[in-house]
Amino acid sequence: MDDHIQIIVNSENICILTGAGISAESGIPTFRGAGGMWAKYRPEELATPEAFAANPRLVWEWYQARREAVSKAAPNPGHKALAEWEGLARSFVLVTQNVDGLHRAAGSRQVLELHGNIRRNRCTACGRESTMDEITFNGQLPLCECGGLLRPAVVWFGESLPEQVLEAAFAAVRQCDLFLTVGTSAVVYPAAALPRLALDRGVPVIEVNTEETPFSAGATYSLRGPAGEVLPPLVAAYASAPHRSRQIS
Ligand code: OAD
Repeated sequence: MDDHIQIIVNSENICILTGAGISAESGIPTFRGAGGMWAKYRPEELATPEAFAANPRLVWEWYQARREAVSKAAPNPGHKALAEWEGLARSFVLVTQNVDGLHRAAGSRQVLELHGNIRRNRCTACGRESTMDEITFNGQLPLCECGGLLRPAVVWFGESLPEQVLEAAFAAVRQCDLFLTVGTSAVVYPAAALPRLALDRGVPVIEVNTEETPFSAGATYSLRGPAGEVLPPLVAAYASAPHRSRQIS
């Protein structure tokens, strides 16, 4: 058995960090690299509170286009493998930087959304949240019942992450015995601190990515390939490990 498979099947408390790459096979573009969104758009013009204050219509148009893409997308075998894994491990915490909601759509239950969820709105005046099915941008800026301007319930550059979600993610890293990063360039903090903290604790960290990243050299194992192809056999190995089958029977 390969060393990384051995480590995986002997782990009980698992923490995963996903990024845009896991949704690439569902047709949702990533942020960085050729074809990534930040090659076409400037983050400071679209994903900052200042951008929204200066031109809410432009920001809403961009998010509306992304909402339409997300609505058409379906979870892929990578999302589904992680949902299956959750049911097999003693503890399993899925931390995601993605705002597309595809992990939950695949059946994952314990999902920590560090950067919010594009399917939700938040009122800039009263803070009330609503879903995009209730109200969204349709050419008119969407307003809350209180009259305040709605914004997508996502985290923009320069904003803090939801504190309880971030704390839960760090707590999961402190108690895991295996950490995986999947489809993330691992350059945006604080999310990028999670695998580094796991390494500091002596926990093996396995990277799944189609390309080398700034994190690859430090990872315990770096597995090259699309998440939808790399993850299913890992989860199948986990499910069928002899000691695990014995526990179940
Ligand atoms: P990035 O676009 O920075 O990185 C995506 C990673 O996925 C890259 O390292 C790709 O090589 C890899 N990748 C692409 N296709 C893949 C596949 N099929 N399987 C596995 N890996 C694949 O996206 P994130 O790391 O998620 O933040 O970016 C982090 C944050 O930066 C985002 O949450 C967003 C962005 O700006 C905010 O908007 C606040």
